Amino acid sequence: MKNIRIINGPHLNLLGKREPLLYGSESFERHFQVLQSNFSEACSLSYQQFQDEGSMVDAINAIMGKDEGACEGLVLNPAAYSHSSLVTADAVGMLASGGIPTVEVHISNVFAREAYRQHSFVSARAAAVIAGAGLHGYSLAIEHLLYLLEGSSGRA
Ligand code: DQA
Repeated sequence: MKNIRIINGPHLNLLGKREPLLYGSESFERHFQVLQSNFSEACSLSYQQFQDEGSMVDAINAIMGKDEGACEGLVLNPAAYSHSSLVTADAVGMLASGGIPTVEVHISNVFAREAYRQHSFVSARAAAVIAGAGLHGYSLAIEHLLYLLEGSSGRA
């Protein structure tokens, strides 16, 4: 069974309370339970959330290792770091060159928002980008990772 990591960046710990018109009314902890249930036969999911760039990059680096941080694919919502962080883009690029794909997710449609949200440094290094599908975007990202890793949708 494939191991897939979900990493969320700053303020996504407040999903459900944070600007619900943009980001919905469900917490990610609750949604993660739904994801685990829906994909229980297809993959093993793990989830981390970080408020700062250094910790997030450390976690992405650990994915390449052989310790407990390792996994085979990454679903990454870098939040505001998408628009500012070359460090995060480099970390995702290193994963890609090591054969570990990343799907970048944005809950909101960043292309319909402020101009400064319409560029992500991470996107060029990601295998795919999903924006504007709400929390369903995480399911789409997992399905695409399974497709890349196994050559099928793998949907549970
Ligand atoms: C976001 C979009 C970013 O522009 C924003 O800074 C976030 C969340 C999204 O999921 O839509 O924190 O990544």
